[in-house]
Amino acid sequence: MVNFPNKLNLAQTPTPLQPLDRLSDELGGPRIWIKRDDMTGSAISGNKVRKLEFVLAEALAEGADTLITCGGVQSNHCRATAILGAQLGLKVHLLLRGSAPKELDGNLLLDHLMAAEVSYYPVSEYQHLDKLFDQWHQHYRHQGRRPFSIPTGASNGTGAWGYINCARELADDFGHHQISPSVIVIATGSGGTQAGLTLGSHLFQLNTPVLGMAVCDDKDYFLRKVRKDMQDWQDRYDQGSPQQIDIEQLNIHVNDRHIGPGYAKATPEIFSTIRHLAALEGIILDPVYSGKAFHGLLQEIREGQFHDASDIVFIHTGGLFGLFAQRSQLGLA
Ligand SMILES: Cc1ncc(COP(=O)(O)O)c(C=O)c1O
Repeated sequence: MVNFPNKLNLAQTPTPLQPLDRLSDELGGPRIWIKRDDMTGSAISGNKVRKLEFVLAEALAEGADTLITCGGVQSNHCRATAILGAQLGLKVHLLLRGSAPKELDGNLLLDHLMAAEVSYYPVSEYQHLDKLFDQWHQHYRHQGRRPFSIPTGASNGTGAWGYINCARELADDFGHHQISPSVIVIATGSGGTQAGLTLGSHLFQLNTPVLGMAVCDDKDYFLRKVRKDMQDWQDRYDQGSPQQIDIEQLNIHVNDRHIGPGYAKATPEIFSTIRHLAALEGIILDPVYSGKAFHGLLQEIREGQFHDASDIVFIHTGGLFGLFAQRSQLGLA
């Protein structure tokens, strides 16, 4: 039995698991299913909400009144934190990598709409994130506030519960549709979604490998980061339990062949896949995460990587607002 810690109910779950039959016919390959985690909410959509259900429960239990977190200028995680902070009546301070753009767009527009405080840092300063978090922590403590720091992407041992919980949902989905997929594919950016799913796949006996399609750093980085998040989860929640997991025995699968020009930069082919899936199936992907990962999956299928698979599950982790910020590259009039 898995003993979940307290969580807030912030996400609309369970999300649907849907087959993409027209796409699967077109590919002539395995049946592709999509787990609609882009539907965990409207503006509070995507994978981050599942993690924040657990992380914000911890923040409230500690009496926090101020959330400090970080990410890129178009961070989906920061947007989700800004909106949930407003919903819960908490102050939110976002530490963003880069400089202020001329226009507010996409996620950043919503951050401002929620009146989140935003500080921009050039990469040279942002790389000393721990120092920045410490400075702001002290600043708020001096003001008599109770700050709570959330790491990049809410990827730590607590955030991992979000996708352990999703694995529990997938076990029901697989039973309901009577499928036993060959692989679960996700975009991996800060590793926490993959860490949670890898743990969850084991805990709920999905017998399905979890493949992270890297969108920024290389395979070695993610092998280390996912393992670190799983270890953090174990240290906090699984240490000494009768069925303690042997983390070292859990396989971490990463594909870093489809990162392209770099984080948040997509090739014309990725934009073409985004347009194609929208027109063919009515599914909206984004160029930073879900579109890049889905394009990579299609490439691998076309190259015969999954020739013996009958079913493949892609988890749509959201990211819709990032598409607006890159609208000019869609090639639409
Ligand atoms: C839309 C979207 N998909 C996938 C990811 C990757 O999730 P993780 O950071 O847990 O690796 C993120 C965030 O990084 C995201 O915003």
